[in-house]
Amino acid sequence: MKSICDYGCGTGEFTKILETISPQDSSITGIDIDEHLLKVAKQNALRNSTVFFRHDVNKLPADWSHDVSCCQTFLTNLSNPIEVCNIFKNHTTSGGLIFAVEPDNSARPFYSSVDEEIELVRKSTAIAIEHTANSKHLNCGPIVASWFAKTGLIDIDVMVYTVLDKVLPSNYEYTLSHISETRQRLKAKSDVFKNSLDELIMLATIAEEKTKKQIENNEYVRIGTYSLFVTKGRVP
Ligand SMILES: C[S@@+](CC[C@H](N)C(=O)[O-])C[C@H]1O[C@@H](n2cnc3c(N)ncnc32)[C@H](O)[C@@H]1O
Repeated sequence: MKSICDYGCGTGEFTKILETISPQDSSITGIDIDEHLLKVAKQNALRNSTVFFRHDVNKLPADWSHDVSCCQTFLTNLSNPIEVCNIFKNHTTSGGLIFAVEPDNSARPFYSSVDEEIELVRKSTAIAIEHTANSKHLNCGPIVASWFAKTGLIDIDVMVYTVLDKVLPSNYEYTLSHISETRQRLKAKSDVFKNSLDELIMLATIAEEKTKKQIENNEYVRIGTYSLFVTKGRVP
């Protein structure tokens, strides 16, 4: 039987994937620093045997150890990802595997039939990446392999899969709710978007109007993709 730990499991989205793809006799544990998210993860779990604990990854108990350590969109949100790769290694059995599924948010091809929406996505993404450069690693996907190498992991390999995020005429409900929320999100993160906030809100307002019109005329199309880098390493 293999033991698997999902670090920074949040509401358990990735934990559910692990529950689905791993052998039934494997044991799965999710940890997160946020107890509210953990409550949702517990409700979402697919197996009764899956357990969740509140832990800060930087302060794990000394005897914490698993055969497989993994995470999804976790290292990207941390200020000390290399240290955390080291923590994964120290808490994974010898010969065990470490997987990190992380995005590259600097390379997200995006098309919308509303020009202002393209501009809004381009500007807000660039500002978010620049603003968080010292505290997060929003484009770390391709870099994780080098962090694993620095940590002394072996048999490092990377697989990339690209997710298609498309809204064609069949799925307008999501589009409309998403666009009307965008302005609220921009305001809520006004510390990030400060100097460009007015311009971004104006773009969002125009984008919303034009999108509604295009939907009425059955003209609206949006297609985006984002890539997730799945990096694997083995503990010597
Ligand atoms: C973007 S979410 C990813 C959630 C989940 N892995 C998924 O793919 O849906 C990042 C998670 O890391 C957790 N987190 C941040 N810092 C942490 C720390 N020091 N120790 C444990 N969890 C942490 C956050 O609470 C959050 O749930």
